[in-house]
Amino acid sequence: MSVGKAKKGTLEKAASRNAPVHDVPARANELRTAFLQYFADADHVVESSAPLVPRHDPTLMFTNAGMVPFKNVFTGQEKPPALRAASSQKCVRAGGKHNDLDNVGFTARHHTFFEMLGNFSFGDYFKEQAILLAWSFLTGTLALHPEKLLVTVYVDDDEAADLWKKISGFGDDKILRIAGSDNFWSMGDTGPCGPSSEIFYDHGSHLPGGPPGSPDENGDRFVEIWNLVFMQYDQQPDGTRVDLPHPSIDTGMGLERVAAVMQGTHDNYEIDLFKTLIAASVDLTGMPTDGAEAASHRIIADHLRASSFLIADGVLPSNEGRGYVLRRIMRRAMRLAHMLGAKDP
Ligand code: ALA
Repeated sequence: MSVGKAKKGTLEKAASRNAPVHDVPARANELRTAFLQYFADADHVVESSAPLVPRHDPTLMFTNAGMVPFKNVFTGQEKPPALRAASSQKCVRAGGKHNDLDNVGFTARHHTFFEMLGNFSFGDYFKEQAILLAWSFLTGTLALHPEKLLVTVYVDDDEAADLWKKISGFGDDKILRIAGSDNFWSMGDTGPCGPSSEIFYDHGSHLPGGPPGSPDENGDRFVEIWNLVFMQYDQQPDGTRVDLPHPSIDTGMGLERVAAVMQGTHDNYEIDLFKTLIAASVDLTGMPTDGAEAASHRIIADHLRASSFLIADGVLPSNEGRGYVLRRIMRRAMRLAHMLGAKDP
């Protein structure tokens, strides 16, 4: 399923870019292309998105992260497509361990359906190159100002903290140590997992919210845009963890979140991918997007995307399992449209 062989180049070449060499991408389509090209230049094989229904994996309802198609590669059961890969993966988080359904419409950054931009190392590079590549993409290709970024590491991950210090020049005030599940990522109750380092964007002091780890961390000001997972373990059904055959890298950056940053808004629902859908919802219902209706239009736009992509990947509304989740998503969007005044099917 490889769609593009990695171009010849070195990881160092891509990572040493520290100034944009072309127009800075801002639209979602441009960002997806820029991300995949950047990692192709750093010798990653570009893989196309896998379906939303995971293949041969009864432990998971939907593909909920870019690493899902590579689960058996991380655990050593399957051969990797290459030692380094990158993708833009369709994801649904509306059931199971990662479930954002109830947040949709009420925060500026949650979706049932979204795209995850990711780069992966299967036993090839580890923490240092993962951090270097991410830093260079954000501050070089996207030309983001370091002042707007801050990072977290798992509480006892001195190695990651030191690497961030060296690569970004950040002091301890910008490298926050977080205990608990926010900085330890697992795909589900079982499967590959490891400590992580998250990169946050500061949308500015005009917005409410505090840095990660603070009591008001869920505000709109500091938004996690990229998660670098240092994959080291395979979680077993009995809760124990065994070492993966090789330390590996799994990263995920929300396309919609980084598009918001590049389009000068903290609100994912104001980016190009959502504007047309929300305008259509306003058109059909005759209701404005401000006031009490704002959340409804957002939920309709989000759920339309999720429903369309789930149906395209073979899920149909039903009374159980995946089909039931789809049915709930469709029913909620239709009910809201009806309440806004769209009475026709
Ligand atoms: N798998 C990681 C995540 O979903 C990158 O955040």
